[in-house]
This record gives sequence, structure tokens and C-alpha cells, in this order.
Amino acid sequence: MKLIYFISLFILISIYSSVNAQLCPNCLKENESCNIDKNSLDTCESGTSCRNISNGGGYICISYLEEGEKCGPETGQCIPGKRCLEDVNGIYRCLDYSFSNVGEECTLDSDCSTYELNCIKGVCKLNATKTCLYDDGNCQYDEYCSCPSTDCYCKPIKTEGESCNTDQECLGNLDCILSICTKLKLLTIGSICRKSSECDYNNGLYCPNGTCQEFVEPKSTSCNPNSTSTNQCPEFQSCSCSDGTCYQTSVYPPQTYLFTKKDLVQCAYDNGCSVAYDFNVFSSKSCVKKNCRKLMCEFRSQTPFKGKQKGDDCGREAYFIDLLCNSSFKITQSIASLLIISFISFVLIFQN
Ligand SMILES: *[C@@H]1O[C@H](CO)[C@@H](O)[C@H](O)[C@H]1NC(C)=O
Ligand SMILES: *[C@@H]1O[C@H](CO)[C@@H](O)[C@H](O)[C@H]1NC(C)=O
Ligand SMILES: *[C@@H]1O[C@H](CO)[C@@H](O)[C@H](O)[C@H]1NC(C)=O
Ligand SMILES: *[C@@H]1O[C@H](CO)[C@@H](O)[C@H](O)[C@H]1NC(C)=O
Ligand SMILES: *[C@@H]1O[C@H](CO)[C@@H](O)[C@H](O)[C@H]1NC(C)=O
Repeated sequence: MKLIYFISLFILISIYSSVNAQLCPNCLKENESCNIDKNSLDTCESGTSCRNISNGGGYICISYLEEGEKCGPETGQCIPGKRCLEDVNGIYRCLDYSFSNVGEECTLDSDCSTYELNCIKGVCKLNATKTCLYDDGNCQYDEYCSCPSTDCYCKPIKTEGESCNTDQECLGNLDCILSICTKLKLLTIGSICRKSSECDYNNGLYCPNGTCQEFVEPKSTSCNPNSTSTNQCPEFQSCSCSDGTCYQTSVYPPQTYLFTKKDLVQCAYDNGCSVAYDFNVFSSKSCVKKNCRKLMCEFRSQTPFKGKQKGDDCGREAYFIDLLCNSSFKITQSIASLLIISFISFVLIFQN
């Protein structure tokens, strides 16, 4: 269940990202006209989006509006991490949103990190007409949202060694084994395994055939980015438009589990932060971002990864990652891409 926190990071990133396609994009600068057709290769450069200007000029690449600027009625005008919302004076502006947890300060309902929370007398509180509804963000940091039937309520979370009935009751990186919240030890090379998550993925191991083995990275080869054939590159790689070389664009098996590492949940807990499913990862005002920024950004750069350094996406991924991490960490755009590719399917299943 704690996995959903990580997935929400990916959802947010993926909303603003275009997955690297095999075909090369046509990068457009600010104010150039663009085509929003699905099959079009037109891609507005970072910091802009393709929008219909209301004066009849058609679709052009327009810069995002910054925080505080007036916006609306069309959506998608605000810089990622800001939303077009009514301010205290009833004027629509690009505002920060979804950053305050239960008990934290707010001025608008939209400041609160979940839909169930309302800004009541300057503090985010669970609305009396609502329940925590599967979202731990509606509970205190040391509670989880339990929904045994149609009713949901916040219950204390259990730490290592405490008795449990399900994994959900145990804090982030613990599993409920023999009714005790337990930290699982990862298996070493050659150990018998059933799934890759049991092997020491931190050291590149996975479970290909019943034993933990080292994953061998496919060799980089050259390719033709204009070709529509999808099998020019080895599995997990695709052709880069910048230099006609195959680079990793999806997660290698052991890396899958790096992203589900639950250190972030532990960091949030240690710092007294509850984490909502859909919190605004771009906002620097949330408790978890204030305390765990390093982890939120670092777990991407940890990936042993030699991806596309030059944007095959007109610099968009790099721009979003930069917004997310405030330039504190150098992260290649491709790491974000691989996150998206690997999680999008899971997210879709999860949400439907
Ligand atoms: C794009 O158009 C806007 C508004 O007309 C103008 O302020 C801006 O400087 C233009 N940008 C470029 C790169 O031409
Ligand atoms: C762009 O917006 C204008 C007015 O808002 C509308 O009349 C026009 O049909 C739109 N153009 C396209 C291509 O959607
Ligand atoms: C609780 O939610 C309902 C429905 O969304 C809303 O009408 C009501 O104003 C909320 N209560 C508070 C105190 O904000
Ligand atoms: C399968 O397991 C054997 C050891 O039993 C190992 O030598 C072999 O490399 C494994 N295959 C793969 C694809 O890792
Ligand atoms: C790919 O197509 C573009 C535009 O059609 C062309 O300029 C470029 O040289 C081609 N690249 C290769 C490697 O064929």
C-alpha cells in the first residue's frame, strides 16, 4: 500500500511528460505555431505548452504562467506544480496547492493535501462529512487509513516487532510476517528466489530462473532513429535521436525495486509528516518535501544509468525534474522517462 506514495510521484511527473518515442520530435520554440494532433511530432520546448490563443491565432507554444499570475478559463496554463485556483479575493491565479496535511496551516481548501480535508479556521481538517477514504494523507503521520468495510478510519501504524494482520498495518519498509511487522532481508547471489523483489536489487540482483542472479546490462549499439522498426535496440533500450545510439529507456529488472524502496515513507514518518496519495510533489511547502527533498530526488539519480543525456524530448523532462528538485541535483531526463514507462501501466491498472 505504501507503494502508492511513490506511484503518485510518477503520476505527477508523467502528467507533464511525454514518453520518449522512437520517432524524433520536432522541437518548437516559444511563440512558434504547433500542432496538438496525437500523431504530430511537434513538441514545444521546455517551459512552454501548445495552446490555442484565444485571439484566433491558433495553436502556438506559449510560456507557462508563473505563480500568482492571473489565469483561466482554459486549463494547463500554469507552470507545473501550480494550479489555476480562486484566491482569497475570488480571482483565478496560478497557485500552489495540495501541500498542507491534517493539522497544518492553510488559507484555502486547495492548500490541503487531499480532497477530504478542508481549511477550517486556518487549519486542514478532515471534513466531518467525509472519511479518510484509503488515503493515509487524511490521517496523522503515525496512522494509516483502514477500510475494512465501506467505512474507513485512521488507525495507529505499527513499527518493527509489533503484531499485525496485514502488510498495510506495518510502517513503510516492513512486511507482516507470521503476524509480526518484520524487515525482510534481501537475498544474495545464488539464493533460491520466487520473485526479483526478494533478491538484493540494490546490488543489481534479480530472479530470472529461481535463483538470484546479477543482471547483465545489454551492450549499447548504433541504430537509426528514423526507423519505425522497434527491434533495432536490445530489450530495455531505444534509439536516441541525438546520436543514433541505443540507450536505456526502461527499467532493468533489478531497478524496478529501487523505485519502490520505502525509505521515503520512513523519512516522512521520522519527520512527523503524513503523506497524501495525491500531494503536490512540486510544492516546496509540504512537510515531506521540506524534510525529505534529498530522498525524493536522489532515488532517481541512484539508478546506475547511462541514459540519453541530450533531450530527445526538447528538454521537457529535464525541466520538470529541475522544478521538482530545485536544481539541487543533476538528473538526466531519461531517468524520469524510464520511471514513467515502467510505472504508467501499473498506474493505469491501479487507478481503474
Ligand atoms: C512571445 O510572445 C510574447 C507575447 O507576444 C512576448 O512577450 C515574448 O517575448 C515572445 N517570446 C519570444 C521568444 O519571441
Ligand atoms: C481556438 O479558440 C477560439 C476561441 O477561443 C475558437 O474559436 C477556435 O475554434 C479554437 N481553435 C481551434 C483550432 O480549436
Ligand atoms: C465539507 O464538504 C462539503 C462537500 O464537499 C462542503 O459542502 C462543506 O462546506 C465542507 N465543510 C467544511 C467545514 O468545509
Ligand atoms: C539460471 O540459473 C543458473 C544456475 O542454476 C545460472 O547459472 C544461470 O546463469 C541462470 N540463468 C540466467 C538467465 O541468469
Ligand atoms: C532522419 O530524418 C531526418 C529528417 O527527415 C534527417 O534530417 C536525418 O538525417 C535522418 N537521420 C538518419 C540517421 O537517417
